[in-house]
Amino acid sequence: MSPAAGRVLLPLRMFLGLTFAYAGLSKLLDPSYLDPSSPAGVRQQMLAVADTSPIGFLVTLSAEHAPVTGLAIAIGELLVGVAVLAGVFTRAAAAGGLLLALSFFLTVSWTADPYYLGADIFVAFAWTPLTIAGDGGVLSLQRFLTTTLKRRDQGLDANRRVLLLGGSAATVLAATGATVALARRDEPPAGGGGSAQPGTVIVAAADLAVGASLKFTAPGGQAAYLLHPAADTFIAVNAACTHQGCPVEHTGDAFRCPCHGGTYDRDGRVTGGPPPAPLTRIPVEVVDGMVTTA
Ligand code: FES
Repeated sequence: MSPAAGRVLLPLRMFLGLTFAYAGLSKLLDPSYLDPSSPAGVRQQMLAVADTSPIGFLVTLSAEHAPVTGLAIAIGELLVGVAVLAGVFTRAAAAGGLLLALSFFLTVSWTADPYYLGADIFVAFAWTPLTIAGDGGVLSLQRFLTTTLKRRDQGLDANRRVLLLGGSAATVLAATGATVALARRDEPPAGGGGSAQPGTVIVAAADLAVGASLKFTAPGGQAAYLLHPAADTFIAVNAACTHQGCPVEHTGDAFRCPCHGGTYDRDGRVTGGPPPAPLTRIPVEVVDGMVTTA
């Protein structure tokens, strides 16, 4: 591909590279990502979509090995993002990005109705120009290294040396990412003293008026909502959207997800958009006038 075409694709390349690097890094740094019991974790996310996905058997199989699958997804996104940003093996990295986006489309976005409410189908198609054409040598570390090595004429084939360098860098990056993610998984949940462990008081029952809601920190460290829909009735739900884990907002008498427009009724049941399952309930009870996690 000509450098001119490479410059045309540069904004798309930078956007997709940054997005994938950010997505991979966010997952690796999120302590709940590898937590098998967290609604925002990769295992629960996979189980939530296994029934509706056309590749459900693969999703169920992957969920049984969630830490490996989760790390592969996160590290894959990070490697794709970094390679595309740096212009190293851009076509292969873009093909990887396309496959990842397609797998997201066939799982978490499959129930989006109409289909264009799910972003993954657009991301998959956005990868196609870069998969076909590459970077054209524009802002390409691979082009720079190959040219420099050829100039030095050190005997070894320059392309092979760049391949070795790229492979080594990818291995180091992947190993670092896996180490960070596994270390984060073992950290106590975010929120510190504010986290509500089972048996922890959330609020005095008398302090939450009927019809009101209160945001609090769930046992897993995620944001949650406590609702008081009727006298003597308290409901708590995890705020992680069951589509892709975005935090939902409680507005009026319902929940809305800002990411892809998923909506839930006041009890957390899906009323629209791509979420495949209701919001996860958190058991609560009233003990001595105090609402506590059960
Ligand atoms: S994360 Fe997609 S609708 Fe909530």
